[in-house]
Amino acid sequence: MATRQREISVAEFFTKNRHLLGFDNPKKALLTTVKEAVDNALDACEEGGILPEVFVEITPEGQDRFKVVIEDNGPGIVKSQIPRIFGKLLYGSKFHRLKQSRGQQGIGISAAAMYGQLTTGTSCRIISRTGPKRPAHYFEIHIDTKRNAPEVVKDEVVEWNREHGTRVEIHLEGIFQRGRRSIEEYLEQVLIANPHVTLHYKAPDGQEMYRKRATEILPIEAAEIKPHPHGIELGLLMQMLKATRARNLKGFLTTEFARVGPTIAETICANAKLPPTARPSRIARQEADALYRAVRKTKIPRPPTNCLSPIGEELMLAGLKRVAGKAEFSTAVSRNPAVYRGNPFLVEAALAWGVEGRDADSPADLVRFANRVPLQYQQAGCAITKAVVGLNWRAYGLTHPRTALPQGPLVIAVHIASAWVPFTSESKEAIASYPEILKEIRLALQECGRRLGIHIRKKARIADAEKKRSYIQTYIPQVALALQQILSLSEASTKKATRNLTTILEKSRKF
Ligand SMILES: Nc1ncnc2c1ncn2[C@@H]1O[C@H](COP(=O)(O)OP(=O)(O)O)[C@@H](O)[C@H]1O
Ligand SMILES: [Mg+2]
Repeated sequence: MATRQREISVAEFFTKNRHLLGFDNPKKALLTTVKEAVDNALDACEEGGILPEVFVEITPEGQDRFKVVIEDNGPGIVKSQIPRIFGKLLYGSKFHRLKQSRGQQGIGISAAAMYGQLTTGTSCRIISRTGPKRPAHYFEIHIDTKRNAPEVVKDEVVEWNREHGTRVEIHLEGIFQRGRRSIEEYLEQVLIANPHVTLHYKAPDGQEMYRKRATEILPIEAAEIKPHPHGIELGLLMQMLKATRARNLKGFLTTEFARVGPTIAETICANAKLPPTARPSRIARQEADALYRAVRKTKIPRPPTNCLSPIGEELMLAGLKRVAGKAEFSTAVSRNPAVYRGNPFLVEAALAWGVEGRDADSPADLVRFANRVPLQYQQAGCAITKAVVGLNWRAYGLTHPRTALPQGPLVIAVHIASAWVPFTSESKEAIASYPEILKEIRLALQECGRRLGIHIRKKARIADAEKKRSYIQTYIPQVALALQQILSLSEASTKKATRNLTTILEKSRKF
């Protein structure tokens, strides 16, 4: 026992726990692979200020095996980084910064490459080029899972018809299926949240899909922000004190955090009973604790929100129309930014009702997005679902069984944008239920629901009036007949009475 302990590499850990990364079954593995590569392509293009054009091609290679190729016209990857990006788990450019992007953990594409290697023994193949004057590099990368380190199998300069961009090829075991939670569904939803993308897709059965971008405008680039002091925990604060380049406490507070200017920094120091000139690296645990408490106590403005890039009400509606098709009523709400654990976030919701071809008594369709990425799995465990289920939809005229989605010809879409989306797992399929996030989703849905309620009630009123009117209409000839008999009216007078009664009904303000 005493000699059996040894280190576990991240790659070994995730080989055993591949379900944590979205590789729990062959169907999902194929989807996750496409998803990770497409997410990266879009992140890279947007960062490079390039309108994305993405090619996805899946080719069958015998029983339950596929070749997946994803190609983009993005800025490419510098040669020296390629081995570690594809051959080392937890390596990326997004983890250490606070900026809204699709990837954040640095474990997306390398995990897909590792899964491919495990199931087919084939290394990941990459071509990348950073500009027309630079060569295109071809790499074959093997992951040494024991060391979580890349091994370069091949490194060549090749001819490539693209001026800049990246092509990733992964061979893997998988199952291809159409329908719900399929690759098509995912790609369709990507286009909804990303109308600026042009997409080419070739499925294993040879079917092709081509969608030209619906807008030439790139989403507003989200700014990178610093952490907000109210979201920092003691351990992290201590680590930051050690690592900082600032020479004194005041400098540390103003440079490492968002929204801390000289005055707030001095207030924090005063509240902590620490001199602003103290050396950050000399601050002991107890003093750090005092500093931590002082930070909590001090009023600090909310974090800046230019780090968020919403889809916007108009595009949410246009997107919803693409999924739902024709609908009788639709509406969208984009909320103002809010904060959870010091992280700014923003919620958008859209809803379509009276959707053609949908049953009145089937549960609503719910489409979830996080930083413009569609979420297809773990619907039940997601904060979005919890907020939808928890809302009282009956108040808006819908049928709503307890603990389930509301019913009706209804499609609901919810998007959360944040510099740090709190996913429930590394596979990024569901959002954690922070009370602040639940509240914002609820408020967005409530506003949509209220508008829907007005529409449904108005419609019910009109239908009701119509019913009464046709009821009375049927009785008018009977009434006229009765009048004729009681008052011994002539045929002409009876006709006149009928006409008059009809006019009264038509003019009635009740209907
Ligand atoms: N197609 C691509 N074009 C440019 N850079 C890429 C591409 N794919 C991956 N990268 C780079 O590789 C890094 C690691 O990717 P990944 O493992 O998916 O993690 P994450 O996206 O969470 O950072 C990214 O942060 C990005 O810098
Ligand atoms: Mg990624």
